[in-house]
Amino acid sequence: MMRSQQTAFDDANSSLRRLGIPAALAAVHAAGISISHAVLGGSHSVAIYPPVDSLMPLDPCGVVEAVDWGREASLYVHIAFCETRCTFCHYAVDHYAGRTKGSAADDDRAARYLAALKRELVLWGGRLARSGTVVSSVYIGGGTPLVLEEAALRDLICTIRDEYDVLSGAEVCIEGSPLTITAPGGEDKLRSVKEQGVTRLSFGVQSFDDSVLKYAARGYKSDLAIRACSIADQVFDNWNLDLIQGLYKGSPSEVWHNLAMLNEIRPAHITWYHGRFADRPQGHWYNMESKHASFEDEFATLLGRMLMWQEMASLGYHQVDGNRFVRSRRYIDPFKKIRTSASSQLLGVGAASYSHVASRPAKRNSRGYVLRNERNIGAYVDSVLAGNIPITTGRIIDDEELLAMSYATGLRTGRVEDEDLRSIGIENPQLRRHYDALVKELSNAGALEAYLDNDGKAGLQLSELGRLFEDETLALFFSPAVKNALAGKASIGRELHYA
Ligand SMILES: C[S@@+](CC[C@H](N)C(=O)[O-])C[C@H]1O[C@@H](n2cnc3c(N)ncnc32)[C@H](O)[C@@H]1O
Ligand code: SF4
Repeated sequence: MMRSQQTAFDDANSSLRRLGIPAALAAVHAAGISISHAVLGGSHSVAIYPPVDSLMPLDPCGVVEAVDWGREASLYVHIAFCETRCTFCHYAVDHYAGRTKGSAADDDRAARYLAALKRELVLWGGRLARSGTVVSSVYIGGGTPLVLEEAALRDLICTIRDEYDVLSGAEVCIEGSPLTITAPGGEDKLRSVKEQGVTRLSFGVQSFDDSVLKYAARGYKSDLAIRACSIADQVFDNWNLDLIQGLYKGSPSEVWHNLAMLNEIRPAHITWYHGRFADRPQGHWYNMESKHASFEDEFATLLGRMLMWQEMASLGYHQVDGNRFVRSRRYIDPFKKIRTSASSQLLGVGAASYSHVASRPAKRNSRGYVLRNERNIGAYVDSVLAGNIPITTGRIIDDEELLAMSYATGLRTGRVEDEDLRSIGIENPQLRRHYDALVKELSNAGALEAYLDNDGKAGLQLSELGRLFEDETLALFFSPAVKNALAGKASIGRELHYA
């Protein structure tokens, strides 16, 4: 049951006061955290470590022989097409509305991309088969995979099943969009992919506010988004809805309106991102005097976040982290942690997709690699169809990066230091001092706190205050080497920083 808007806002305001906001913000800012619309190392959340903008050019041939896929890996397949190009989105996508909906050249481009994707899937499928690696989850993302025809999707899913040893019961998730789901035949397409083993659907509505949608160039109004949710709910039990806080024209009242819609729709899983814009129209608007005031300021973002957390709880949702909510714990995505942790194996196939993989045990000072495919879609296709491995950048995960990763991705749900991490700290006293000082500063600012995990082991986690700045806090734990690499790249992100 929804509370009254006045009660919910009063409650959120008093919770911020309980955390010492606004007075505590000075200490939080001094510790290096503030709400920002800047991308964090190239991404809108700290989803992968080391972050994509810190990766360096590399020769793929040597690396391919040095990796060890182990017993189990997750598979990500990138479909680089969307029927709209949203003003906030920095993903590697090309405009494509589906076969025969554009020019013959568009159809040809899509066919060549799918041919390259298939070829890359076959290449890695053979390697994983040789190492006896099973696939524990599949994510067909983008972009908007559901923009493809039913036959193309069937062919893609068959290729995955033929080339990989996908565990029975593995989660297979596909991404769509309100436009693809409500298009003629959209529901049939959902039923068809479900019959072929897709277990989960994920798509973004971003907002149910027509003004926010208009400036986001999503190509629909809220009534269509609501229809998409209803179709998704009829076909899939497990489906995720993405929203973004802080888009152009976004506000705490817009957050409230979105909460009211969620109360009606009740998706199984909700991911509520914070808008980060990179070199895209909304990033430029943010820097324009005439448009800047139509973005939330820091206090409005904090109020909106608190409102969202408290109201989602009162609607009966469980909060998984600062951005994710589930109607029941059975909808928690068990593979999310695997896909975002470089200490597990992820194979990314398609333009701009990344992999993380262990190195062969014989290698010293390299636990593994984060590797990324060519970002330019045309260049990716040309490279694969010419018989090349399309990896162009990467980074070695050495002890320093492993320690940094344990904070940057571990603190989101709580970090407990194991023997391995402890000995890395002992062997690298300078690094140990660096992280101890950071932890002390953030704890003093109230952003981190000690906790006991389920086994009674002492760990470190984000406090409620720290969680208000979740991704910004995690990004502070990027290693000194990664921070140096990022500092070397001129990024619109830095201009976007509030503080
Ligand atoms: C790769 S998109 C795929 C979903 C699908 N194409 C759609 O838009 O419905 C995954 C999600 O990333 C989020 N996203 C994309 N760009 C973002 C940005 N700049 N800031 C925050 N979230 C963003 C959106 O919520 C989007 O739904
Ligand atoms: S948000 Fe989704 S539909 Fe929009 S450009 Fe990005 S991937 Fe495509």
